[in-house]
Amino acid sequence: MTAVIIDKEICTGCGICIDVCPYTAIQLADNKAEFMLEDCFACGHCQAACPVDAVVVSGLASNMAFSTFTEMERVVQPGTGEVAEIVALMRSRRSCRRYLTSPVPLALLEDLVKIGTTAPSGTNSQPWNFTILPEREDVLVLGGLTAAYYRKLNRQARNGVLRLLVKLFGGDSLGKYYRRYYDSVEESLREWEREGTDSLFHGAVAAILVTAQQDASCPAEDALLATQNILLAAHMMGLGSCLIGFVVEAMRRTPDMRRKMEIGDGEEIYSVIALGYPDVIYHRVSNRKSVVPRILKFGTEDTEKTDWAVE
Ligand SMILES: Cc1cc2nc3c(=O)[nH]c(=O)nc-3n(C[C@H](O)[C@H](O)[C@H](O)COP(=O)(O)O)c2cc1C
Repeated sequence: MTAVIIDKEICTGCGICIDVCPYTAIQLADNKAEFMLEDCFACGHCQAACPVDAVVVSGLASNMAFSTFTEMERVVQPGTGEVAEIVALMRSRRSCRRYLTSPVPLALLEDLVKIGTTAPSGTNSQPWNFTILPEREDVLVLGGLTAAYYRKLNRQARNGVLRLLVKLFGGDSLGKYYRRYYDSVEESLREWEREGTDSLFHGAVAAILVTAQQDASCPAEDALLATQNILLAAHMMGLGSCLIGFVVEAMRRTPDMRRKMEIGDGEEIYSVIALGYPDVIYHRVSNRKSVVPRILKFGTEDTEKTDWAVE
């Protein structure tokens, strides 16, 4: 339960907390703001927007208590930051596939998780959960389980009769996998077994698994937004990172893997982030495919006719 506590002595009745509340939880009574509900989704907008600091939302952590850096705890007001800086950061983050063997301090990984939780989430439900694999040996356990999954999948995929049966009764997923991935996975498994070459985690020495409660309104979006925060912050901390979709796929289909990673019944896995200090330096950013956005302008239409109201 969330309580919004408003100090009536300090409140000036300006009403900004009412305007920013997405929950219609605050009203003016006798020219003072008053929290009208038993509960809300604790987004903290009222507290953040109050110009005289009269609002406290109970149950919110007072600060994130990062341990590897000192937080500025200031609001970057719209239009005051350097957009070029953030674009440079976004373009400089690359998927790392070559790591040093030096370990990543656990405190850094824990701070990355906290940074992940600054992401937006549907109805502020924050349905995410994070699992840290802090050392190379831990990453290798997940790697071994993933290899076992793909070994089994490749055994099934090389069976032409099974591919045909699956196609007849359940679509061509096994056939597609066979055509697209079978050979490269087979090669990776051989290298993993014979030479210990890790073409799955690329030698990463740590990992963060991002899961979310399935019954949330948008668990996938929430988990992936937290993931992107982690990727960008990891870069700023000097870490290389890489999403490992192959492991996500294996975990989704293997309850035993999820159990071993202590992921609860109501949770789904959305990302596996490999981490470590990079053993590669990029000297320039690279480009993306160009996109041409659809631009829709309805301004000249009669707005009466396109009103939301259904007659
Ligand atoms: C959902 C997702 C899954 C991915 N899975 C893998 C993976 O299993 N192995 C890998 O080496 N890279 C993986 N990547 C990284 C992409 O290959 C990479 O993001 C893309 O090539 C663009 O390169 P960049 O991240 O360096 O900008 C994945 C990326 C995403 C978004």
